[in-house]
Amino acid sequence: MNNIIETMLNHRSIRQYEDRPLSEEQIMTIVRCAQAASTSSYIQAYSIIGITDKETKRKLAELCGNQPYVETNGHLFVFCADLHRHQVIAEMEGQDLSPAIESTEKFMVAVIDATLAAQNAALAAESMGLGICYIGGLRNQLQAVTELLDIPTHVMPLFAMTVGYPLQESSQKPRLPIGHVYHQEKYNQDKQSYQQQLQEYNATISSYYQERTQGERSDTWTGQMANMLSKPARMYMKEFVEKQGLNKK
Ligand SMILES: Cc1cc2nc3c(=O)[nH]c(=O)nc-3n(C[C@H](O)[C@H](O)[C@H](O)COP(=O)(O)O)c2cc1C
Repeated sequence: MNNIIETMLNHRSIRQYEDRPLSEEQIMTIVRCAQAASTSSYIQAYSIIGITDKETKRKLAELCGNQPYVETNGHLFVFCADLHRHQVIAEMEGQDLSPAIESTEKFMVAVIDATLAAQNAALAAESMGLGICYIGGLRNQLQAVTELLDIPTHVMPLFAMTVGYPLQESSQKPRLPIGHVYHQEKYNQDKQSYQQQLQEYNATISSYYQERTQGERSDTWTGQMANMLSKPARMYMKEFVEKQGLNKK
């Protein structure tokens, strides 16, 4: 096994960090690695906002649902799908590019690009011995986030990522059985084997939680998912995305 694969397979989210900033060199390496990710048709439709200002971090922590590690970390990155620069290009090239920029397809392209860049950043950070945690809580109150960070139209903040020197030894969360996510040749729609695998996975997850919480928690994964999905969240998103001038047709 090489070092990169070892780092990937060792991933776990880290939610407690030393109050010690990353160096400029570390930050730039992480961003360069993010930029090295593949990008659809070379479109590079994303931006990364680095946050060091303590007050901005404090406000973001609050907006993200009072997640303390959004405030205390080595560095905070905000990843955005970004077609704003392509609107600037429209002006430079004297063309109306709005129909494409505002389409669902290009919105998806930008989200995919930003996510690929983010995972490269995560891996780069982890390979340096740093810990990371994605923060989808950023989407709790996007109007306030866009105002706080001065984000223009055609830009959609997707998630933040905390990075820093780990202060915790967290255990790894077991993933679904590989045959459940990797289909060979065709999508496997055999519900019986599907449910059987999920039952087995539930047993694994229950004992994982029991061990981690000294018996206090024993949730199953399907129970967790049903509970989460029974409460639709952030239902303002469609309207917000359209207000940002994205995913309109
Ligand atoms: C897009 C995205 C958003 C996430 N948002 C949060 C978040 O707001 N707060 C948090 O503590 N963890 C967040 N996570 C981390 C997940 O909870 C975590 O990756 C998952 O439970 C699996 O655990 P692991 O990363 O330790 O393997 C997020 C992960 C992703 C990919």
